[in-house]
Amino acid sequence: MVGSLTSEDKGDFEHFMLKEIFDGPEALRQTLRGKIRDNKIVFSELKLEVQAINKIFIAGCGTAYHAGLVGRKAIEELAGIPVEIDLASEFAYRTALWQAGDLLIVISQSGETADTLAALYKARKAGIPILAIVNVPDSTIARLADMVIYTQAGPEISIASTKVYLTQLLVLYLLALYFAQEKNALPPEELMACINAIATIDQYVEKALTQQPRIKEIASHYYHANNAFFLGRGYDYPVAMEGALKLKETSYVHAEAYAAGELKHGPIALLNGDVLVMALLSQDALLEKTLPNINEIKSRGATIIVVCKESLQEHCQEYENRIVIPDTNPLLAPLVAVIPLQLFAYYMAIFRGTEVDNPRHLTKAVTVE
Ligand code: M6R
Repeated sequence: MVGSLTSEDKGDFEHFMLKEIFDGPEALRQTLRGKIRDNKIVFSELKLEVQAINKIFIAGCGTAYHAGLVGRKAIEELAGIPVEIDLASEFAYRTALWQAGDLLIVISQSGETADTLAALYKARKAGIPILAIVNVPDSTIARLADMVIYTQAGPEISIASTKVYLTQLLVLYLLALYFAQEKNALPPEELMACINAIATIDQYVEKALTQQPRIKEIASHYYHANNAFFLGRGYDYPVAMEGALKLKETSYVHAEAYAAGELKHGPIALLNGDVLVMALLSQDALLEKTLPNINEIKSRGATIIVVCKESLQEHCQEYENRIVIPDTNPLLAPLVAVIPLQLFAYYMAIFRGTEVDNPRHLTKAVTVE
């Protein structure tokens, strides 16, 4: 159910979802507050011997899981700590080979998700320390975890999580950089460049939001679609997963995400003129591999929408449905690339006439396993 704020709280926006997408930059600024001091990442919430961390496990559901997928990549790439990630709902059914020095990170907007709580209990039973990334203060997960980092997104009313996803990503990037800093895992100038990039990321998100009219226009052409694929490689893949989830939950369009390279291993059989394909191109180094995948889709007659980084635009000229996102450090691109996908899901829902803030069969906190 949509939360208890009144319609006035939407300000000039017609729906909470749209307001919350536009709240993203401010949510990032609030979450960043106090985390960078004298060019260093500071986490007073953590009671951890970073050098002694052996492996990190991450568990979450839905959007929180998608944030965790990005976090895994960042932690492994920047800090060199191995990470395993599970859907919290599956974590109970597999053997976690815990070792001394392991840490579980649970991610949850509500802090009340039953599946995520079950993952927490499993680690607790094994004596593994638990760090929670939570948005709702004093929620059950926040109370039970050994350490809590709050995302400072403020209340999120719309069932589709948007601004909180951004802040979850931000906390995970900051954690990855903090671990790297404490382990001296990166050359100082590289660490500094990443810290500087993250300190100004809100401005890039603001810029991505200026694409709103273009995205609305594209959605107005394609809202009758019944099937959509979201494609990406590297950091773009978990963002594609998030885009597909947003679209299905708000507009009830059947949407799936595929790693761009996986398409030819089966799903390509589904492509025809009725399929909408959203392709993400935010990673310079992966352009050469992903472009041929998109061309292949084109030759199968599917409608393509390309979300493309500004400096890669020249490679995407042949795609009329182009949404341009600002150039960022490729590591941080998910924070920017997800904005058009959130807006696209919103406008698809609006044109299809669904109850965008309160989609059928969903609740803001899923408290049953
Ligand atoms: O409150 P949580 O972050 O633990 O919730 C997890 C999922 O239920 C949630 O992200 C869900 O997928 C959202 N409706 C996505 O927009």
